[in-house]
Amino acid sequence: MSSNFTQNNSEDVLDLTLRPKTWDCYVGQDKTKNNVKIIIEAAKKRNDQVEHLLFYGNPGLGKTTLAYLVAQEIGADIKITSGPAIERAGDLAAILTNLEEGSVLFCDEIHRLSRTVEEYLYPAMEDFKLNLILGKGPMARVMEMDLPKFTLIGATTKLASISGPLRSRFGATFGLNFYSNEDIEQVLERSCKILNVKAEKNALKIIAEHSRFTPRIANHLLKRVRDFAQVKNENLITKEIIEDAFLNLEIDRLGLTQNDKRFLEALVVKFNGGPVGIQTLAAATAEEEATILDIYEPYLMRIGLIARTPQGRVATKMAFEYLGISSANLPKILF
Ligand SMILES: Nc1ncnc2c1ncn2[C@@H]1O[C@H](COP(=O)(O)OP(=O)(O)OP(=O)(O)O)[C@@H](O)[C@H]1O
Ligand SMILES: [Mg+2]
Repeated sequence: MSSNFTQNNSEDVLDLTLRPKTWDCYVGQDKTKNNVKIIIEAAKKRNDQVEHLLFYGNPGLGKTTLAYLVAQEIGADIKITSGPAIERAGDLAAILTNLEEGSVLFCDEIHRLSRTVEEYLYPAMEDFKLNLILGKGPMARVMEMDLPKFTLIGATTKLASISGPLRSRFGATFGLNFYSNEDIEQVLERSCKILNVKAEKNALKIIAEHSRFTPRIANHLLKRVRDFAQVKNENLITKEIIEDAFLNLEIDRLGLTQNDKRFLEALVVKFNGGPVGIQTLAAATAEEEATILDIYEPYLMRIGLIARTPQGRVATKMAFEYLGISSANLPKILF
């Protein structure tokens, strides 16, 4: 999944270069890390295949990275696919029958699997069997195929879009949280070493504060700032260089993207700050409800610009201040 952040090929390469390859480099998410390790260790002791795992969370929080680490911990091969890539049952059959015994299959954007493909996936997940239907009408027969044992790791930014039956077939589900600014600073320190740049004391703190609590965004900002430093022939990232870079790149002081701003403006301007229901907001902004729930709201709530109430969504005083709109005439109940 790509984030709101524009991503080109060089950014993909950046992701790959900076992707942690050991648990020690994977900052934060301690609970998830510990629980995943326990599941793997227990399965190893029982000589069992590790259960299927589902990771969900906003783009760039580390789902793919975690999947690689899990495969490494299991000591197994990892094959990568994604929901939209598996169009037909035949595609799924080709992937599953070619897996090595004991390997990991990582399915990104698993919420985009079609219902038909999902139906085929259920017995594969439960019993490592695939029931293919050959032919049509009265001549149709079911062919049952044995599959190699495998661990499916699903990743999604939209947990709510995953059907109940599919969700229930995962042994464990883990949500990745936003990172603290301290954790992001740690990510940035490691990235500086890999990219061979130095940063002044406190400089990384500023980058962290603009990173939407997301490692991928932090790394992207670091790279942009590094470019600015290098143009000035400096190999040291200073506070001044960051401020200059952010000003030039129009990076928002709260880390909001244009899409976040549009959403917030709709809530503040069209609905006087709410309360307004999610469906109405979705219609007014021409966004899917799921996108609002999964992408916009978590961050805007985390930084205190909006809140959820039983009556609907409301913009906080801080949101009005941020947009430079007076909230003087609005009913007190909102704040
Ligand atoms: N816990 C972490 N510690 C250090 N770096 C991290 C961590 N999580 C993510 N990163 C950095 O962020 C980048 C993006 O992470 P990753 O690709 O795993 O995110 P994702 O959740 O799979 O995103 P998407 O939903 O867009 O697929 C990684 O390449 C890595 O550089
Ligand atoms: Mg990913």
